[in-house]
This record gives sequence, C-alpha cells and structure tokens, in this order.
Amino acid sequence: MDKNKLFKLHGEYVMQNYAPYPIVFDKGEGSLLYDSDGKEYIDFLGGIAVNSLGHNNKDVTKTLCKQAKKLLSCSNYFINESAVLLAKELIKGTHFKKVFFCNSGTEAAEAAIKIVKKYNNDKNTGAYKFLSFTNSFHGRTVGALSATGQDKYKTAFAPLPDWFEFAPYNDADALEKIIKKPEISAVIMEFIQGEGGVIVPSSDFISRLGLLLKKYKKLLIADEVQTGAGRTGNFFAYESAGLKPDILITAKGLAGGIPIGAVLTNEKLSGVLKPGDHGTTFGGNPLSTAVGLTVTKIIKNKNFLNGVAEKGNYLKNKLSELKKKYAFVKEIRGAGLMVGMELSPSVSARSLNEKFLDRGLILIAAGSNTLRFLPPLIIKTEEIDKAISIIDGVFGEIKVL
Ligand SMILES: Cc1ncc(COP(=O)(O)O)c(C=O)c1O
Repeated sequence: MDKNKLFKLHGEYVMQNYAPYPIVFDKGEGSLLYDSDGKEYIDFLGGIAVNSLGHNNKDVTKTLCKQAKKLLSCSNYFINESAVLLAKELIKGTHFKKVFFCNSGTEAAEAAIKIVKKYNNDKNTGAYKFLSFTNSFHGRTVGALSATGQDKYKTAFAPLPDWFEFAPYNDADALEKIIKKPEISAVIMEFIQGEGGVIVPSSDFISRLGLLLKKYKKLLIADEVQTGAGRTGNFFAYESAGLKPDILITAKGLAGGIPIGAVLTNEKLSGVLKPGDHGTTFGGNPLSTAVGLTVTKIIKNKNFLNGVAEKGNYLKNKLSELKKKYAFVKEIRGAGLMVGMELSPSVSARSLNEKFLDRGLILIAAGSNTLRFLPPLIIKTEEIDKAISIIDGVFGEIKVL
C-alpha cells in the first residue's frame, strides 16, 4: 500500500500514543533494514534491544516455522516441551531454580512484584514496599509504572500505588537511609539503566548495595529486561557485578523478536506462587519458548558472548575517537552492545534522530541527551564503521553556538 495512504489510515484507526517516524519498514536482513521504498538502513536500535540475532536469522525462522506447523498454543492447563527446556536452559549454570514465563518486560516486572508481596504476606513480615531508583524504567503497567523513577511516564496516571520509594542511582548513602526501613521488602534495579540514558552504576555503589542487602536482609530484583540475553557481553549483566539477585526479570531479546518475558527465582522464592496465584494466557506458549530456546542456546555460547564484548569495545573505541574530534560529545559509556554517547546540552541528541534516518542509520536518543546504541548482537565491524562515518558526517554539520 502507498506509504502516505497507510499513514492516513494509521491516523484514522490506530491510537496515537506513539509518534512514529515517516518510514515503513518492509524487510530486514542481519543488521540491515529496508523501507517500503527499498532504502537501506543500518539498524542500531534493534527493535529497542529486541532483534538480538538480527533480522531474518535462519535459526530463528527455521524454529519458528517448524514450531508453527506443530503447535502454537495449548494453554497453561497443559505443559509443553519447549517451555520446560527453555526454563532449564535459562537457569543452567546460575543460582536460580525456577522460571515463570510471560509475554513482555512489564508483565515480568508485575510478576516479580507479586512474588515479593506474597512472600512477605506468607511470612507476615509487614514489609510491603520496594526501593527503586530515580531515572529507572520498569514498564508501563500500573505496578511496573509505579516502580519507574521518571515522573514523565507517571504524572498523567496519578495517583499510583505508593509501594515504591526512590533513591538516587549511584548514591550508596542515600540508599542506606531507605533500605533500612522495616517496610522495605526488596530493591528493584537495572544493572545498567537503559531508557534512562545508558547509565552505568559504579562498582563501589554495587558493592555497597550488596553489603546493605545483606545487612538489612532485603531481596534484590534484577530488571534485566534490556540488559539480559547477552546484550552486555554476559548472558545476564548481574554476572559481572558479583551480586546474586533473588529474582531476575528478562524479556526483549530473549526470543529474538517474538514476544516473551521470563521471571527467574532463587530457592527462597521459587515456591511462593501456588496454583491460581498468578498466570497469563499466552505465557510460556510453545512458539515463543521454542524460539527462545534456540536464541538462548546460541547466545549462551561463550564465543558468541565474547564476540559481543569485543564488538562493544570496538564500537566504544570508535565513538571515543569521535569524542576527541567533537567537543560536544560528553561521555561514552555502557557494556557490550549497550552503549550510550551523551552529548552536552548545546546539542539536542533527539534533534539528530531524523538526520541519521535520512542517511540510512537508525540511531535514537534516550534519557539524558544520550544517543543509544543497541544493534543486533550479530552486527559486523564493517557495519559499525559505516555507522560511525554517518555519525561523523552528521556531527560535522552541527554548528555549536
Ligand atoms: C529495564 C526495562 N524494564 C522493563 C521494560 C518494559 O518492557 P516491555 O516494554 O516489554 O513491557 C523495559 C522496556 O524498555 C525496560 O527497558
């Protein structure tokens, strides 16, 4: 259909809660996308950290087609093989014991909140609150939104549940003041804040957090919706932090583009949910878990993860060269292929999105005036080079007053 006609219909029939760019993507191959006019783009957004193995990945499509011919869905009144095998694969080599499947990151956050609440109710601890961080993002459903530390997502929906208190990220002293309160049951945190602008916690903060969790006997929920499934060069980002979360939530890249969410629990929390306590119609369906299993096996391979870390370092080095060249580049940060480039306030990162798109690069700003790099984990160094030269071209035209 003609693009303009399609946009007109979109305006007429689809709720306008997004502000889409005037592009319709038609197909993808690896880290490249093609729009309806046949124009090629290098994809440094990856569906916001979703297309972990790139577009039209042969293993993903093979599993998808094979499973689609066998069984799409069967309800949770019955079990299915791929959900069981994916659960086993996810917890293999970790301290986690059990998995709950759902369909998205926000749903995984809701399930984690409910598990902690029930754990405390079962034990009559009286603890019903959580500590979250300013600038965090945990999702758009009511519980996850309440946990989110950014007012711009929340104000329109106030009043929200008051179960969340917020401490500044990276400030261990402020953290202690809240974590020690008896009503606080758990801390929910991203090991790198994604939507907030790729903010990396300091190692000092992480080790103080570990000590405080032990001292005050609080639970830790790791939100690895964005950092999980190999994004940072480890399968999960917590692995390099030396902490063992009680619950981990993950989603986005776990099934390479098919909707999925997962909640992993340790021994203490694995038996909290009893039949009827929680559920979701589509969670753990044979299709998403079959693809999730294929994706997880590929990404968990040490060589694959090393490749992510290497390409991430390559990207960061290239971006650091641009930092030397352009004074308005403030900072490069991140891990693996989750990288942010913060610009000084003299240049609006958001205003550059369209310029990059014009030149065939999908690179979108997030949080604190930061360009966010989330390419497929299979991106090639030549594609990184090409993206860098596009960025260099756009930066070269910026006139800073
Ligand atoms: C850290 C984090 N948690 C939760 C979510 C919510 O995930 P979803 O959009 O799949 O509901 C996101 C989405 O960006 C996220 O980045």
